Amino acid sequence: MGMESWWSKFISVRSFILLLLNATHCFSPVQSQALGQVDECSALLQFKESFAINKSVSADPLAYPKVSFWKREGDGNRSNCCSWDGVECDEDSGHVVGLNLSSSCLYGSIYSSNTLFRLVHLQRLDLSDNHFNFSQIPSRFGHDLSSLTYLNLSNSLFSGQIPSEISKLSKLSTLDLSFNYQKADDGIPLKLTKANMRSLVQNLTTIKQLHLNWVEMYFTVPDILVNASSLTSLQLGDCELNGEFPVGIFHLPNLEVLDVNGNSNLTGYFPNFNKSNVFKKLNVGATNFSGMLPASMGNLHSLNFLDISWCHFYPLIPSSLGNLTQLNYLVMNSFNDVSKGKIGEFPSFVSNLTQLEFLDLSDNEISGQIPSWLMKLTQLTSLSLDDNNLQGPIPRSLFQLKNLEYLSLSGNNLSGLVEFDQFSKLKKLKGLDLSNNMLSVGITNDLSATLPKLQTLALGFCKLQGPLPIPPQSIRFYDVENNEYTGEISPLFCNFNYLQVLELSNNHLSGMIPKCLGNSSVLKILGLHNNFFNGYIPPICPSKTSLRIVDFSYNQLQGKLPRGVMNCTQLKVLNFANNQMSDIFPSWLGALPELRILILRSNGFHGVIGKPATKHEFPKLHIIDLSNNGFSGMLPSNYLEIWNSMKYVDENRATYYEVDTDVLGGHYYRSDYAMTIRGKGVELKYERIPYHLTLIDLSSNRFEGEIPEGPIGNLRGLVLLNLSNNYLTGHIPSSLGDLAALESLDLSQNQLSGRIPSNLAQLTFLEYFNVSHNHLSGPIPLGEQFDTFQEDSYEGNSGVVSGLIVGVIVGDIWTTKKHEWFVETFSRRRKPRGTRDRRGRRT
Ligand SMILES: *[C@@H]1O[C@H](CO)[C@@H](O)[C@H](O)[C@H]1NC(C)=O
Ligand SMILES: *[C@@H]1O[C@H](CO)[C@@H](O)[C@H](O)[C@H]1NC(C)=O
Ligand SMILES: *[C@@H]1O[C@H](CO)[C@@H](O)[C@H](O)[C@H]1NC(C)=O
Ligand SMILES: *[C@@H]1O[C@H](CO)[C@@H](O)[C@H](O)[C@H]1NC(C)=O
Ligand SMILES: *[C@@H]1O[C@H](CO)[C@@H](O)[C@H](O)[C@H]1NC(C)=O
Ligand SMILES: *[C@@H]1O[C@H](CO)[C@@H](O)[C@H](O)[C@H]1NC(C)=O
Ligand SMILES: *[C@@H]1O[C@H](CO)[C@@H](O)[C@H](O)[C@H]1NC(C)=O
Ligand SMILES: *[C@@H]1O[C@H](CO)[C@@H](O)[C@H](O)[C@H]1NC(C)=O
Ligand SMILES: *[C@@H]1O[C@H](CO)[C@@H](O)[C@H](O)[C@H]1NC(C)=O
Ligand SMILES: *[C@@H]1O[C@H](CO)[C@@H](O)[C@H](O)[C@H]1NC(C)=O
Ligand SMILES: *[C@@H]1O[C@H](CO)[C@@H](O)[C@H](O)[C@H]1NC(C)=O
Ligand SMILES: *[C@@H]1O[C@H](CO)[C@@H](O)[C@H](O)[C@H]1NC(C)=O
Repeated sequence: MGMESWWSKFISVRSFILLLLNATHCFSPVQSQALGQVDECSALLQFKESFAINKSVSADPLAYPKVSFWKREGDGNRSNCCSWDGVECDEDSGHVVGLNLSSSCLYGSIYSSNTLFRLVHLQRLDLSDNHFNFSQIPSRFGHDLSSLTYLNLSNSLFSGQIPSEISKLSKLSTLDLSFNYQKADDGIPLKLTKANMRSLVQNLTTIKQLHLNWVEMYFTVPDILVNASSLTSLQLGDCELNGEFPVGIFHLPNLEVLDVNGNSNLTGYFPNFNKSNVFKKLNVGATNFSGMLPASMGNLHSLNFLDISWCHFYPLIPSSLGNLTQLNYLVMNSFNDVSKGKIGEFPSFVSNLTQLEFLDLSDNEISGQIPSWLMKLTQLTSLSLDDNNLQGPIPRSLFQLKNLEYLSLSGNNLSGLVEFDQFSKLKKLKGLDLSNNMLSVGITNDLSATLPKLQTLALGFCKLQGPLPIPPQSIRFYDVENNEYTGEISPLFCNFNYLQVLELSNNHLSGMIPKCLGNSSVLKILGLHNNFFNGYIPPICPSKTSLRIVDFSYNQLQGKLPRGVMNCTQLKVLNFANNQMSDIFPSWLGALPELRILILRSNGFHGVIGKPATKHEFPKLHIIDLSNNGFSGMLPSNYLEIWNSMKYVDENRATYYEVDTDVLGGHYYRSDYAMTIRGKGVELKYERIPYHLTLIDLSSNRFEGEIPEGPIGNLRGLVLLNLSNNYLTGHIPSSLGDLAALESLDLSQNQLSGRIPSNLAQLTFLEYFNVSHNHLSGPIPLGEQFDTFQEDSYEGNSGVVSGLIVGVIVGDIWTTKKHEWFVETFSRRRKPRGTRDRRGRRT
């Protein structure tokens, strides 16, 4: 629907009203037209001048700078701005009544002095999809633009409190202030107080579309919304709402769209719906909604979109949902997040929903086979059944779904042979995920003919053998980890210009790593862990690239760390563990602003580490593992002094380290980085890395001298510290007692002397402690965790007095925390869609 339709509609109404006005008050429309227009046209020109034009600030691919075609023409007083792109005037009065600069590449702030506010006859204003540089919304919108019926400031990076004056716009029928916050930008969100929300609803008596997605609210939904009877569309996604959702809102007579997605603290339940309900779209995904899905949902005869994913609904699905034959979009993955029971067999009501285009039933403990009647859903473009208990073969009938673009069956117990040739029937297929099943996949080596549009291929844990399959040019995400692939990476991989993720870990691949991979400008994740790659490491980031994770660990690579890595300014993880590299400490990595994890364990690194070039080296480093190399000299105390990110405990303990890759529109993956670390006396395998994990491992080198008391005591975020198997001398610094987060401390196999500082007993999280094979003497500290350490923590010291050693092995803290640490058995999970980056910006 073009602009024409709504413009023409309201212009004709306006003309009619003006006609009446003119008849009663006999003023000359021609005169006022000339004067009013001159002022308004120059106001528009000044408005234009207040912004820079910047093509990258509008996300719409069709965006263009409308204002750059605005010019004063002719003799000035009749420069007819009414013909300018995006400007609409009333035919009779000549006033500017519409301004549509959506996706117009405007960049800059809007202050209250802006000449926009001279356009007092404006009825429709659309400034969406621009970049207003985190301006506040000026209160003059409410004061001066009181004729507005349509106001769209979405996607435009406004911030701060929404002024109360907005509720003066009592003629508004559409208000859209959504998506003004881009989480990735560290921007400031728009905010709304509860009082302002109330007066907004109270005053905008004819509001139809109220869209406030991503506006920060932190309050309960005010009851007064129950009275907003003209509402047709209410969108409050990701608003941090809490409390109970007023159930009366479901009974609003005209409400067609309700979206409260992503308000995880918002509780609520579905009422009984009757046939007078006109809902088309209902989205309560990722909220705290619970209770029964009422059988009366079958009355929602117009519903075409239903999202009840990531909720707490009781897992009993009323068969009446089969009456929702208009449904195009059904998302009910994890719809009973807290398991109150299992959904059981594949829900049969789905067989009735022949209009479905998008179906997601992931993570619902569905058991049994994939029903062959799915072939009846001929409109399906996306089918996700991941993380259930589905068994048996993939039914052949599935290959008759010719419109299928995404098929995701990972994390089930599916078995039997999948002949890849069958996929050749699915010519539109863009995404295929069969990982983590018991399938035998008979894959053809060249997929480019079979699946010419493929963008995502995930075939992890499929026991695949032979050379890597060659995907088509369109590939973006290629994950075949944990198979038995052999041979080299074909040079054809150099041609995949869209490839963002290449995950080949845990195979038997060999040969050199192709140069081109380190040079790709779109590749974000390069995972080659645990193969037989050899030779020199190719240049990485010889020019600026987008690499975030580089994992070459457990291969047979030689030589030096390529200096180009210093150009990988977005790099977060660099792992070269267990290779045959030979180099001095790459202090130049300290300039990488995002580097969080650096692992060079078990190589031939050597020499003295020395001093940092500036005080800002390694600003985000949390994990450094240099163990089992040939480093010598003193411990790098100057570095320990400046690693500020290790100096505090990250409060955000619940989250895991992750890298977002927006591989496909609408299909986002969260790639959790998996790694192995030595700590707590054993090898720790992290399938996901807790965000707070902070560790230093300098063990098994040739470091000498004392442990620097001051610097080390400052690293209060440290969770693991391993300095074992060096030539360290002197005392154990008592400042170690300040490392309150410490869970593992290993100082064994050095030449430390003196006593164990008694204040180490205050380390209440300490689960592993080893000072064996030193020259320590004196008593063992008493109390707390020290009552749990075994005698072998101290053996090989000449004079340590084993005081009170109780035979408890590991404290409770460790056993409970362990669950938090060793989560999930596979490393890729889908993210709730509510949290994705809405602008789809290319970064
Ligand atoms: C503004 O123009 C864009 C095209 O540039 C169009 O998509 C949009 O619907 C228009 N806005 C309104 C409110 O009609
Ligand atoms: C264009 O906008 C982007 C932000 O989206 C900014 O980083 C860049 O510097 C701007 N370019 C110019 C020339 O202002
Ligand atoms: C304004 O427009 C009128 C009509 O076109 C013209 O006669 C007059 O000279 C214009 N005035 C100026 C100052 O340009
Ligand atoms: C955006 O705001 C920043 C900080 O307030 C300012 O330095 C910058 O010049 C502004 N950019 C534009 C294009 O107005
Ligand atoms: C506001 O503009 C955005 C982006 O241009 C558009 O997607 C959205 O539908 C508009 N909102 C309304 C309510 O028209
Ligand atoms: C409600 O709108 C009227 C004008 O229509 C205005 O005078 C009044 O101040 C508004 N109330 C609030 C709370 O904004
Ligand atoms: C809704 O409107 C009714 C009738 O006008 C009024 O009695 C009631 O108080 C209103 N509810 C709220 C929550 O304002
Ligand atoms: C939900 O509520 C809890 C407890 O009040 C609070 O800590 C948390 O930040 C809230 N989460 C959101 C997303 O609002
Ligand atoms: C249906 O529900 C609405 C409230 O949502 C109510 O006003 C109406 O009377 C009900 N109709 C029937 C037939 O029950
Ligand atoms: C709705 O579903 C129920 C249960 O499947 C069925 O008995 C009833 O006839 C259906 N109603 C309509 C109008 O289709
Ligand atoms: C399927 O839909 C029809 C109406 O199109 C309805 O009569 C029937 O009861 C539905 N079946 C189920 C199992 O809900
Ligand atoms: C880093 O990038 C620049 C610009 O692309 C390039 O000139 C330089 O050689 C690169 N440095 C290394 C060490 O590759």
